[in-house]
Amino acid sequence: MPRTTPLLGDASRPGELVGRARLLSALLLSSSGDRWQHTRSVARRAREAVPAVTPTGGQRAGEVLVAAAWLHDIGYAAPLVDHGFHPVDGAQHLRSTGWPEEVVALVAHHSGARFTAAESGLGHLLDGYDADLGHRSPVAQALVWADQTTGPAGELVRVEERTAEVLRRHGPDSAQARCAAERVPALLHDAAATEARLAHLVGRERCSPACAHEGVWYLTA
Ligand SMILES: [Fe+2]
Repeated sequence: MPRTTPLLGDASRPGELVGRARLLSALLLSSSGDRWQHTRSVARRAREAVPAVTPTGGQRAGEVLVAAAWLHDIGYAAPLVDHGFHPVDGAQHLRSTGWPEEVVALVAHHSGARFTAAESGLGHLLDGYDADLGHRSPVAQALVWADQTTGPAGELVRVEERTAEVLRRHGPDSAQARCAAERVPALLHDAAATEARLAHLVGRERCSPACAHEGVWYLTA
C-alpha cells in the first residue's frame, strides 16, 4: 500500500497523477522564481510530446510523462536535499511517499543524470532506479526533449543552446563539462527520436521549421 499524505492523496490512482504532480511541484518550487517558470514550461512541452508516447504506451504513458515533467526538478527544493544530486533527491522523496515507480525512475534518470552522476562519483545512487523506465523508454526520451528544449527561465531553446548554456553556467571544470562528450550526444539522440515520432504523426520523415507545430518544434541537429 503506497504511503500518502492527506493533502496529496494517492498518486497511483488513475487520472489523478498529473494533478497531484502539479500540486506537489507547486508546493515545493512555486517560490523559486526561474526554476518554477522552467518547470511550468517543461510540463507544457511534455503535454505537446504526449502524442509521441501514446502509440506505444497508451494514455498512461502520457500521464506519466507529464507528471514526471512537473516533478523532475523537485530535488532542488531545500526540504528534499539529501545527497545534493537533485535527480536522486527528488526520486528518493517520490519513492518514499508512494509515487508510481515509472515516475520515480524518470525523475532519477532525467536528462542524462547517469553521466553527471558517474562523473561526480555518485553513480551508485542510481543503482536502485530502473534504467529501462528511466532513460531508455520513449517516455524518457520525450522528457529529455521537454527539459532540453526549455531554458532555465522557461524560454524555448534548441537542445544545442540548452547544453551549451549548462556548460557556461557550471564551468569548464564541472562534472557537466567533463561528461559532455557523452551526455550531449545522448540528449540530442533522445530529443531527435522524440521529434521524429512527432513528425511521423503529421506525415513527415522528420521535423523541420516548416512543419513546426504551433511554432514550438525545433530541429535538434
Ligand atoms: Fe529541468
